[in-house]
Amino acid sequence: MSFSEFPPPPELDPGQDLPHLRVPPPGPASRSWLVRYAHAAAPMGPRRAPGSPASTVVFARGLGSNVIDVDGNRYVDLAAGFGSLLLGHDHPAIRRVLGLQAERLWQALGDVHPSDARVALTERLARVHPSGDGQVVLGQSGADAITAALKTAALFTGKPGVLAFSGAYHGLSYGPLAALGLRESYRAPFAAQLNPSVRFVPYPANEAALGDTLERVRFELARGDIGAVLVEPILGRGGCVVPPSAFLPELRARAEDAKALLVADEIWTGLGRTGSWLQSASAGVEADLICLGKGLGGGLPISACVGRREVMAAWSRDAEVVHTSTFAGAPLACATAIATLDTLSREQLPERSQEVGARFLDRLQRAGFVARGAGLMVGIELGGRSGAAVDVGRRLLGAGFLTSTGGGAREALVLTPPLTIAEPLLEAFAHELERCR
Ligand SMILES: Cc1ncc(COP(=O)(O)O)c(C=O)c1O
Repeated sequence: MSFSEFPPPPELDPGQDLPHLRVPPPGPASRSWLVRYAHAAAPMGPRRAPGSPASTVVFARGLGSNVIDVDGNRYVDLAAGFGSLLLGHDHPAIRRVLGLQAERLWQALGDVHPSDARVALTERLARVHPSGDGQVVLGQSGADAITAALKTAALFTGKPGVLAFSGAYHGLSYGPLAALGLRESYRAPFAAQLNPSVRFVPYPANEAALGDTLERVRFELARGDIGAVLVEPILGRGGCVVPPSAFLPELRARAEDAKALLVADEIWTGLGRTGSWLQSASAGVEADLICLGKGLGGGLPISACVGRREVMAAWSRDAEVVHTSTFAGAPLACATAIATLDTLSREQLPERSQEVGARFLDRLQRAGFVARGAGLMVGIELGGRSGAAVDVGRRLLGAGFLTSTGGGAREALVLTPPLTIAEPLLEAFAHELERCR
């Protein structure tokens, strides 16, 4: 593999380098770590077809848009921690704040004796709600934020049902797993332990599908037991499916008529990933509950369910009821979350995501790819064959590009690079993808 045809563009920042492979991945060091891992880690995940080459490497370092593996291979990271590294690896603002907070306080006592960092972050997030005056439940993971939202909806409406969508992914703990529409194999073994009042309707991938989806939404809501309508404003793991522009406003109206809460799962789409702070708000919708996670902590685990004040009041209506955990909203993650919000805003990264993402999408489409998305959340359809994205992803890894897959059959390539990525790296990727055809 040669990179000589991509002469390094001038003045690339540190962490914005083109790939450099010392050995074909996975190299000997990665293989050796992976043998140890395979022995100690429970065996889960997709089965590799017998004889197909390994496509996993072991990360050792990260900087900006680059990852170095244990063999010293340098990659361009277009997966960025499943979309969680909005600022890339090891951003100086995050590193600085992490150091400062580490010298002050690592753990507080949840809501009982909160840290100052937790109070400050909660105030910031309360203003993220389109009402400007929301209230917040902090968590550790996306699944945790979804669980908080589903509990809130059940408390507020008194209705146990959830309306969810085919292709959707909201996390794998039991609350969100019940609403998982992406892959039946993730749900089936546990189905008997899941909320039985979840009903699925198709996610509309285009205008032609919208009417049928809305009709099915109306039908399900008419049954009267749905308290939460849970939706990704753009399907993420489902393959970056962008719905027609009327979808979210129509859903909002129908949820309201049925006295159900609209829950926008912005764990992937939010905080600039799709080119705006909230994809639901840019679609013209004020959701009752908004779930944030992934990029919020700048690489540390933290999530939030941000709701309308009247809705959140449901937590105090009856006997004591709480949603919390030991490390939810821990001080280090609260500090890095504040630094993340500051940096996104100061460096105008949502705006950059929109501009750079539009140019990138256009570049891919002009090259003949079926590419879709918003901002720097891009899906590339690879013909519908099951596992097509796994094969292409393996070839891209061999050229120094880390990607992820999407869609129920892993038929789409999903790209969620840092919002700070240098454009020449995207161009180099597009060039490489053309060679994979
Ligand atoms: C849209 C969406 N919601 C929720 C989750 C779950 O987040 P976590 O893996 O942090 O539990 C994910 C994870 O990929 C996601 O993409």
